[in-house]
Amino acid sequence: MTDPKGYSRLQIALHRLAALLIVHQYLFKDAISAARDAAVKGMESAFNPLVLAHLAGGALVLVFALWRPSIRAGRGAPETLGDSAVQRALAKATHLGLYAVMILMLISGSVAWFGGVQAAAQGHNVMEVALLALVALHVVGAIYHHFLLKHGLINRMRRAEG
Ligand code: HEM
Ligand code: HEM
Repeated sequence: MTDPKGYSRLQIALHRLAALLIVHQYLFKDAISAARDAAVKGMESAFNPLVLAHLAGGALVLVFALWRPSIRAGRGAPETLGDSAVQRALAKATHLGLYAVMILMLISGSVAWFGGVQAAAQGHNVMEVALLALVALHVVGAIYHHFLLKHGLINRMRRAEG
């Protein structure tokens, strides 16, 4: 199978949805943190729809995130750009890291919330920082390729191509 020249509309839409949901997870995190704090202290907390939104948002991130590799396995994805083997390896490692941390966030969050395991909550909080660092690296890489190396890389995630 030859690699397609770009990403499909579905691949682009899923990338956008997952990114937006991740922003939502960070913006509205206080409700779930407060609810877990209350649970740890043995206190009741009033129902807050933002807690449900965090649980559902986290599950949806995973649906959108894992749908993409399955499409990639079927239709393929454009070849990784980069001026050297090191750059291409770094891009691939960042993408793999993003997938891994998204999955680990779901697992640690679920074990903390449904199992009440404090270590999992701590892991979730550590991974929250790891995810931010990887996203920052990813965005800096995309900007570097687009504006300095002029590969037009960001357009690959904006315009669908077969
Ligand atoms: C939470 C935010 C984000 C996450 C989790 C994320 C994750 C990913 C992942 C996993 C891939 C690999 C796609 C594949 O499987 O083929 C990817 C590709 C890409 N992302 Fe993001 N992304 C995020 C935000 C952004 C932003 C803000 C930009 C724009 C500056 C961006 C630009 C791109 C581009 C251009 C590609 C394609 C790279 C290529 O074709 O080699 N991403 N993203
Ligand atoms: C990619 C998906 C997710 C992201 C980006 C994310 C992000 C966050 C962030 C930023 C916090 C705040 C931590 C702090 O107070 O500093 C948090 C807390 C929390 N999240 Fe998530 N989350 C995700 C998925 C989930 C899922 C799927 C669940 C459960 C099913 C979950 C359960 C929790 C719990 C229980 C806390 C409170 C932890 C504590 O006790 O401090 N999260 N999350």
